[in-house]
Amino acid sequence: MPQLSNDHKLQVEKVLTRSPVIPVITVHRLADAVPLCKALYEGGIGVLEITLRTEFGLAAIGEVRKALPNALVGAGSVTSIAQYRDVELAGAQFVITPGVTEAVLEFGVTSEAPLLPGISTASELMMGHIHGYRHFKFFPAEVAGGVAALKALAGPFPDVTFCPTGGIRQDTAADYLKLDNVAAVGGSWLTPADKIKAKDWAAISDIARASLVDARGQR
Ligand code: 3PG
Repeated sequence: MPQLSNDHKLQVEKVLTRSPVIPVITVHRLADAVPLCKALYEGGIGVLEITLRTEFGLAAIGEVRKALPNALVGAGSVTSIAQYRDVELAGAQFVITPGVTEAVLEFGVTSEAPLLPGISTASELMMGHIHGYRHFKFFPAEVAGGVAALKALAGPFPDVTFCPTGGIRQDTAADYLKLDNVAAVGGSWLTPADKIKAKDWAAISDIARASLVDARGQR
């Protein structure tokens, strides 16, 4: 079975160590994508996960890559190989999936953009582990057992690092970041819909800054 290269592992590590908090971004108006991502970047967040949850996701990835060449811009909510190919063409520098399929795991081994596969059980983790994956998104974190589940997974999988997402808030992120097997946490608390609707970019930079201060207190 082809194994994940060290280069891919290093690239994912680079994503997870660049920012302890990763915004999960859903673009409802394409014109919001660049100012929203600039606000997050100015607030200190250099890793941006743009989801494919709306029709604007792909175009947003391309625009944000051009506007913020020093940020790491990835694609989230990728669920198929077709989408994986599309986001690579759009310029995604990393790819995040909510779950795993054998096909996506195999594709991620040879793809250009490294994969952070999503898992919520030991069995799913093992599917990725045999391909060489050592970094996983833990999703949906809060309902899949939260901090207690991650502590339990550290026993059988001491070589695995997680990025939990799903139901995490600014005031709970630190509980996850205290764990040795958590490198970063992701969430949409960094991109509140009301602030985006109001184009209150300054407020979004403030949330980013405050979240980084809270997160770094745990490192
Ligand atoms: C994800 O895809 O990572 C989650 O939907 C983010 O979860 P949240 O919206 O509860 O933060």
